[in-house]
Amino acid sequence: MHPLIKKVLVSQEEIQRRSAELGRIIDNDYSNGKPPLLVALLRGSVPFLAELIKHITLDIEYDFMDVSSYEGTQSVGDLKILKDLDTSIQGLDILLVEDIVDTGNTINVVKQMLMNKGAKSVKVVTLLDKPSRRTVDISAEYIGFEIGNEFVVGFGLDFDQKYRNLPYVGVLKDECYKV
Ligand code: IMP
Repeated sequence: MHPLIKKVLVSQEEIQRRSAELGRIIDNDYSNGKPPLLVALLRGSVPFLAELIKHITLDIEYDFMDVSSYEGTQSVGDLKILKDLDTSIQGLDILLVEDIVDTGNTINVVKQMLMNKGAKSVKVVTLLDKPSRRTVDISAEYIGFEIGNEFVVGFGLDFDQKYRNLPYVGVLKDECYKV
């Protein structure tokens, strides 16, 4: 285990097992139409996307988007597109891939953006869900693990851009947050 990790919340084995279950459910849910386009939000969702797609047998495609909140403003609910999709999504079923749904603002705004671009449907698959932090009334259709109100790192999730490469989801020791 990384020396700065206080505890592991979700192990690598648990992530693999749950991703396999989600893959089977997604296969089944989308088996009647055209396979969905997976839209992964950079950068945190990359490890989860890589694990999840191993367990989807439909002929899916994937693309990436990067969004961030506007800096220096207090406004919530507004997101800036740092990297837009390369694929036209007119008429497509979209499966948005997230690392964690926290307040719900990101998936709420991105879902709206994708619908405005002509997507036929937008559903969300997230590795983690923190329902106790929600400020927007929204939830993901596919959830890996529900966790409490704790800041987590690993499997794509960062603190100051670090720890994304940990193969598990864990909580950092308190000393990491001291300046
Ligand atoms: P939301 O818009 O509040 O739902 O936030 C979603 C984004 O906040 C995620 O994609 C993460 O980048 C970040 N985030 C929220 N909670 C955590 C956490 O516990 N660890 C790392 N990043 C987090």
